[in-house]
Amino acid sequence: MLDTNRIPEHVAVIMDGNGRWAKNRGLPRLAGHNAGMKSMIEVVRRANDLGMKHLTVYAFSTENWKRSVEEVSGIFKLLIRYVESELKELMDNNVRIRILGDYSPLPPDARKAVDKAIANTAGNTGLQFNIALNYGGRAEILRAVRELAEEAADGDLAPEEITEEMISERLYTGARETGCGDPELIIRTSGEERLSNFLLWQCAYSEFVFTDVLWPDFSPEEFEKCIEKYQKRDRRFGGR
Ligand code: FPP
Repeated sequence: MLDTNRIPEHVAVIMDGNGRWAKNRGLPRLAGHNAGMKSMIEVVRRANDLGMKHLTVYAFSTENWKRSVEEVSGIFKLLIRYVESELKELMDNNVRIRILGDYSPLPPDARKAVDKAIANTAGNTGLQFNIALNYGGRAEILRAVRELAEEAADGDLAPEEITEEMISERLYTGARETGCGDPELIIRTSGEERLSNFLLWQCAYSEFVFTDVLWPDFSPEEFEKCIEKYQKRDRRFGGR
């Protein structure tokens, strides 16, 4: 049974398997992403109902640009549709949208939709829904390191003064951006058991739950099962 008094504050999800779900049905890959968006909407709802503080999803990685033009532009169109169709419900449910990643290279209409979602939901105090868009863990760490190197080069910072906290602060999960911090739990669907450049710094002590379910088949009940698995884990953070 899920212990609703011990819901993790921050859960991150690698929504994998949309392409295989579509292939299994003889449908185009975009039909898989479309079905995946529906799963995402339901999981956001459940996370909010459970009182979770942060839900982070990997929607588009820095490597996903290698996919076909049709697929990439199709995902961005879905993003626009998502904002158009869901913004009202997100407002009603007090959900705040934020982005992890540099979304400036997205097409202008997609960027506009994202800006609107961020601005309209900025005052909401319920679930914080973080969407990783053009996100890569290494690029994120590199950005933080460059910033610190610039401060050091300007003479504002001695290398030995650099702390882990200073790196954490400069990531998208830091207080200056989304403030969601490290996830207690990372879920990956579709049977793949790797991180694919997601939250590399932040996952140091995260629990991982892998499920064979393809993302479009991932229901709120499956989501709760993953949290139940997490609740059975013994987290020691290197201690005893
Ligand atoms: C991974 O499945 C999924 C993605 C790269 C895209 C995720 C997008 C959504 C869930 C819907 C869109 C939502 C927003 C907010 C844009 P895959 O295509 O790698 O699946 P496969 O490994 O089976 O091919």
